[in-house]
Amino acid sequence: MPGYELIGAEEQAEVDDIFNNGGVLFRHSFDAIRQDRWKVRDFERAFAKSLGVPHALAVTSGTAALRVALAVLDLQPGDEVITQSFTFVATVEAIIESGATPVCAEIDGTLNLDPRSLAKLITPRTRAVIAVHMLGTPADLFAIDKICRDNKVVLLEDAAWGCGGSLDQMPLGTWGRMGAFSFDFAKTMTTGEGGMIVFQDETDFKAAAAWHDHGHENNPTVPRWEDTRASSGFNFRMTEMQGAVGLAQLKKLSSVVAAQRKNRDSMWAAIKDLPGLTPREVPAGSYETADALVFSVEDGSTAKKCREALVAEGLSTKILPEAVTWHFAGTWTHMPELVARHGGDLGNQFQDSRKRLDKAVSLPVVVKMDETVPARLHKALKKVLVR
Ligand SMILES: Cc1ncc(COP(=O)(O)O)c(C=O)c1O
Repeated sequence: MPGYELIGAEEQAEVDDIFNNGGVLFRHSFDAIRQDRWKVRDFERAFAKSLGVPHALAVTSGTAALRVALAVLDLQPGDEVITQSFTFVATVEAIIESGATPVCAEIDGTLNLDPRSLAKLITPRTRAVIAVHMLGTPADLFAIDKICRDNKVVLLEDAAWGCGGSLDQMPLGTWGRMGAFSFDFAKTMTTGEGGMIVFQDETDFKAAAAWHDHGHENNPTVPRWEDTRASSGFNFRMTEMQGAVGLAQLKKLSSVVAAQRKNRDSMWAAIKDLPGLTPREVPAGSYETADALVFSVEDGSTAKKCREALVAEGLSTKILPEAVTWHFAGTWTHMPELVARHGGDLGNQFQDSRKRLDKAVSLPVVVKMDETVPARLHKALKKVLVR
């Protein structure tokens, strides 16, 4: 969660570097006045290097990152894209905006895409799968990747929460053909609003770079106003100010994740012996970003009581149980494409996911944790769980 906790002198210095050297806030052109400052480009290169991938493209948000990645696949009406029932609405919004039909699968004990449910939903219309690493815990990419390969379906990753995490030593976002990241203000590293796509393949990168920039190919042999183009596009360009903040935040990412993991562990150590707590499952070989500490309790009413007790103690929960309607496809009756694909009544869908989410509790993890938090967590939860 806490890139925002560490916004400070380093971010300020990167932004000042723009304003003190020409003040160009646009990622292209203005070569005569920008004094060789290219913050977005530098941020993309540094991000790609840190993940060990050949290309990265900065965009305006995590939602835009998903939308641009889907644009590369040139989806047609009737094509289907499968994702998981527990995700932020943005994942499904991006599928709908791309003109494809969204399909949601059940989640497993990781609270991410259940490979068994995924396998049952694949049809000849399936073009892509978006695995989401909700709240920083990897999805079971071993099984999901195999299903995608066996069925010749594109794997994409929604790594909005996965920045800085890995599975089997491979950074989250680099398992799929493309990985999408969010740098909104609640994410592990932030540019206020912003996002990034990482690519394995240069052709995908070039198509995405053009599409996010009205089709501009940024042909170096002609001025931008005479630029070549091969496809239509849109505008999802990141500004230089966001790029500057991203450069500074990226340098802090590994220490942020390490601190979150340490704090998550001390929070769990304080409560793990309370009766009735079951930790979220984690695939073997995971390096979680530890954005949250997630566990399940006996039932939905106990989960709600846990939240009440935590709030009374001056603590909080994060998404589960209080914000599930923004994160569970079973409640998205405002999305006609999703409702129609799932038989017209979302209320009867995703029963396994509903049961898992109903009794789940998620605690926010921060970098600058007040040292009294673990003991206060114990005190609050004990009131509910020890009868
Ligand atoms: C799983 C997931 N995907 C996508 C997004 C969208 O990111 P952004 O807020 O940067 O548009 C979010 C944001 O919370 C998210 O949680």
